[in-house]
Order: sequence, then structure tokens, then C-alpha cells
Amino acid sequence: MPVTCVIGMHWGDEGKGGIVDTLADNADMVVRCQGGANAGHTVHVGNTTYKFHLLPCGVLRENVQNLIGHGVVVDLEKVLEEIDTLRSHGIDPYGRLFISNRCQVLMPYHKKLDGLSEKLLDKGALGTSRRGIGPCYADKVSYRGIRLADACDADFLRKTLKKNLLVTNALLQHAYGEKPFDLDELVESTTALMTKIKPFLTDGLAMIHKALKADKRILVEGAQGTLLDVDYGTYPFVSASNASVHGVSSGCGIPERKITTIIGVTKAYSTRVGAEAGPFPTEDRGPDAELIRKRGKEYGTTTGRPRQCGWLDLVATRYAVEVNDVDYLAVSLLDVLDVFDTIKVCEAYELDGRRIEAFPAGCAELMRVKPIYRSMPGWKTNITGCKKWEDLPAKALSYLEHIGKFTGAPVKIVRLGPEREQTVRRLGT
Ligand code: IMP
Repeated sequence: MPVTCVIGMHWGDEGKGGIVDTLADNADMVVRCQGGANAGHTVHVGNTTYKFHLLPCGVLRENVQNLIGHGVVVDLEKVLEEIDTLRSHGIDPYGRLFISNRCQVLMPYHKKLDGLSEKLLDKGALGTSRRGIGPCYADKVSYRGIRLADACDADFLRKTLKKNLLVTNALLQHAYGEKPFDLDELVESTTALMTKIKPFLTDGLAMIHKALKADKRILVEGAQGTLLDVDYGTYPFVSASNASVHGVSSGCGIPERKITTIIGVTKAYSTRVGAEAGPFPTEDRGPDAELIRKRGKEYGTTTGRPRQCGWLDLVATRYAVEVNDVDYLAVSLLDVLDVFDTIKVCEAYELDGRRIEAFPAGCAELMRVKPIYRSMPGWKTNITGCKKWEDLPAKALSYLEHIGKFTGAPVKIVRLGPEREQTVRRLGT
């Protein structure tokens, strides 16, 4: 703190939600700045499991203000659904949840277009969440987006939608042979949803500046991960926003020089979801991956799809540490490795018979690399009850030490299970 960013080191699903939830205890404000309802952050409190897609995890803390920054694309129905679910658990986020009025509205046609393009691509599909993310960001940078502030104005909304539908409906009808969206229906449904969203809208930039001036402790909850960042990730098998720390300033307005701490989150192993065709150098299809998937319950929060699993890729992690200038790492799901005799980490790749140590820029190469592993002894102990850093077995500590040395960012937080109490910090963190 005062401005701490929690950023995924891989392809999302690193366990950022649990880390943010723990750190939120010492935060005044939790901010989201990237992605949309494609994100899936799970937080366990007591017997209740909360699955967030758009709401910042800080909504579970009474004294924390939460902001959905303008870099997020907002699916109006989804955000209202999440608010209703919280209310059904007796938590009313009103007065603590704010949505930047500069956010783009994710329209129903974005979801339709996402699904249609995936269907058309068939086996070449990217495996998106079909939540409309790519089409919504594409409209934003093609000057066909609609900000929440403008969606509040029914006349402006109608005029803008009328223009946008010219292009969108042409695509739907002529490229996909689908029914066009009706302007009146869309204006009516959007206006009805906006009435419910309005109480949560705010000038997010002003809120951030006020918080910075007052020295408030701001926690930025990253979405997806660095390898899904549209610029730094494994393009084109990425998501549409800047999911690395580089999306923080542009996505909520915190000036870069105000960021004080960058925490990179990685699992103790690697996973990837969705992109069957996307590169995943340490993907394993054997019994080790099967055991990791079973023990780590590796199924997507947003889609329920089984995740591809493999050993920790330290080449990719070191790349992400450098891209984000990570101060220290948080390793989640370390307990999943409790049962292995030997644990492997990838320390270099073999590319066309050559050893390489840098993370390739293009997927053409990345899809041809083979991992070169170092084997380390497993600790073969149940660590889920460890309360202090010193309680961890020596072999687990060596594993963490090695990750820190190799990547250049020490491991200072580990998660040993889904509960809040199962977070262990190295002293001084
Ligand atoms: P989209 O973001 O739905 O357009 O999907 C693009 C790619 O990013 C697909 O491979 C998705 O599986 C992946 N993706 C998007 N969000 C997440 C996430 O929160 N966790 C893991 N993968 C994600």
C-alpha cells in the first residue's frame, strides 16, 4: 500500500481473488480496471463461496470502497445479477460499490457476435468466454462504443445505437445470416437496466484522485493475466484488454508513478483454459496433470470448462515478472503439490533443437517449444494447516526460494487452501 496492484502472471485463474480478499483487510479501496464478465474470481468465506465476474472482491468487506474502473466493459445484466446475489446473502453493496461512468457498455449484440464468430471458426475458435469481450473492446476502439455516462441519456443512446446498429446489423445479417437487433427494443431494454445501474455510477477518475490525495490505501485487483494481455500476452490467443500492470493507469486513472507495490500471482503449477490451439509450453496430458486438475479443482469459474494443467513454467513467469516489474510473488494452491514425489519446473525451452531462455514474442515459435525441466523433491506432507512461514516443510521452502531466485521476484505470500486463514505471509510482508 498505498497503491498495490495484484496481477496475474499467466493465463488468468492464478488465484488473484483469494489474495485480493486477504489484502483487502488493509485496504480502503479495491479497484478493477481490465476485462469484463470474462473474469472469474472465487472467494470463500466461512461456508459461502462467492463467484465474482465484474464486482471487485472488496465488496465482501464492510469498510472497503469498490470501484469498477473505466477500463472494464460492463455487461449491465451481469453486474445487476451479481449485486442481487450479494443482496440475497444479506450484503448490500450500495454506498460501497461504484462504477465509473466512463466504462463502456457491453451490449447484447457483443455477446451475440462473440458466439457467432467462435461458431464460425469452429475448430479454429479461440475458446473465448463468449461474454462479448472482444467485440465490445473492438467497438470501443472503432469509435462505436457507448459509455455508461452517455447511456444515461436516452436521446444520445438512441442516436448512437442507431449509427452502431447500421454496422452491427449489416454484419449480423450479411455475414452471419442472422436477425438484426431492433433499435426500439434495445433502447428500451438498455434504458430499463440503466435506471437500476444509475445509483452506482460515479466519476471514477475523480474518486481515484480524491483517494490518492487523501493517502487512501488502494488495492488494484487485476483480471486475467499477463499472458492474456493483448500486447504482452500470447497474441492472438489473448483477451482484449491490457491484463498486465500496464492496463492499470489506462483502466482506472491511477498515474503510473503512484503505484507503489506490484504483486505477481502464480499458481504453484500452470494452467490454461479455453484456447485449445493456443500455446501452453508446459501442458501435460498425463497422470501428473490429471492429479493436479483433480486436487486443484481446475475447472473454469466462468465457463466450468476443465483447465489444461502442467508444471510451473518459470520462463513464462520470469517474463511476466519483468513485464510488470513485480516486487514480489504470491504463490497460490501450493498444497495441491503435497502428494508428489517429484515436482518439476520449466527453466528453458527447446526450439528447433536449440536451447532458448527467453519467452518468444510470436505464437508460431511458442507453439513449437518443448519445456526443459528441473526436477525438485516433493515434500509429501499435508501443508494445509501451516500457520506460519516457518511451519512449511524445508522442501516446500526450497521450492519457493527457487521460484524467487529464478524469476527475480521473491515469494512472500503462499496460499495453502481456499480459506482466508490459509494464507501465509513471510515476515515483513
Ligand atoms: P475472452 O476474454 O472471453 O474474449 O476470451 C479470450 C481468451 O481469454 C480465451 O482463451 C479465454 O479462455 C481467456 N480468458 C478470458 N478471461 C479469462 C479468465 O478470467 N481466466 C482464464 N482465461 C480467461
